[in-house]
Amino acid sequence: MKTKIAVLGCGLIGASWSALFSAHGHEVAIWDPAGIAQDALDRIEQAREQVLAINPDLAGCLGSVRPTASVGEAVADALWIQENAPESAALKRDLYTEVEAAAPAEAMIASSTSSLVWSELSAGMGLPRRFVTAHPFNPPHLMPLVEIFGEAPAQERAAAFYACLGRVPVRLKREAAGHIANRLASALWREAVHIVAEGIADVEAVDMALVNGPGLRWSVVGAHMAYHLGGGAGGIAHYFDHLGPSQEHRWGTLGNPRLTPEVRKLLTEGVTAEAAGRTVGELEAERDLALMRALRDMRR
Ligand SMILES: NC(=O)c1ccc[n+]([C@@H]2O[C@H](COP(=O)([O-])OP(=O)(O)OC[C@H]3O[C@@H](n4cnc5c(N)ncnc54)[C@H](O)[C@@H]3O)[C@@H](O)[C@H]2O)c1
Repeated sequence: MKTKIAVLGCGLIGASWSALFSAHGHEVAIWDPAGIAQDALDRIEQAREQVLAINPDLAGCLGSVRPTASVGEAVADALWIQENAPESAALKRDLYTEVEAAAPAEAMIASSTSSLVWSELSAGMGLPRRFVTAHPFNPPHLMPLVEIFGEAPAQERAAAFYACLGRVPVRLKREAAGHIANRLASALWREAVHIVAEGIADVEAVDMALVNGPGLRWSVVGAHMAYHLGGGAGGIAHYFDHLGPSQEHRWGTLGNPRLTPEVRKLLTEGVTAEAAGRTVGELEAERDLALMRALRDMRR
């Protein structure tokens, strides 16, 4: 069934959501205070082509993308509102005031926020029970994960909504800055930065180790399950007995780096060397092609 959806803030994440929503047949009204440039429409179209390339069945029921001139116009008849404004609680709260004044009372409001939490964002809302944080992983039109927090009925409704878009909704039991995935990603990147800052390995070696080792394994089994298998036939109980102490020893050696000018310089030089002349656009295109291949294979 076609749903009227409003996408507020049409940068990296808003454009990607717009592609996914419209590829699944929904009527999407988009708004951005900077206006909707042709560039944004081109990015939506390109991302939609990628969604269709991995889901050819969707081609027969494409929805629409309609630029609008105001928040009020975008949300006037929307039943789902996906907010993708810059990561500022004050800015997002001001936006919700405008949204609540113009949107139907039954419309759900979902924030893509990476690190702000539900209680902070819903403070001041007239109807906080219809508000959820719904954090996608970049790029949302390809990455299946959506992490959801809100009151129980809204969380359920949101999980059902994103599941219908082929996403994998994961519910939080309580709110946390960075939800689940970004907390994990931040913990890992902290150590990746520490390894470079301490001269243990350079940027490219760290990325190679991750992509060809744990990253590949984590794309099929999670962190906990990986250690259950690491215990052999005895599972995680044997792992604790055998390798638990060495795991705790390693935890004791992990770093807590700061992003000082020197560390930033090291990381910037390392990433530039790893990019080997490829632009961000070219690297994104390579990433997307590899993600699409992996997603197709996982579906088989
Ligand atoms: N970039 C990521 O990897 C990523 C991943 C998941 C979630 N998020 C979250 O998505 C949200 C948007 O991030 P992004 O990376 O798309 O940023 P972005 O800078 O690419 O886009 C933000 C857009 O918001 C617009 N904007 C400015 N003021 C606004 C307002 N008052 N109301 C509505 N829109 C406004 C800007 O013009 C811009 O187009 C953030 O909350 C961020 O935490 C980002």
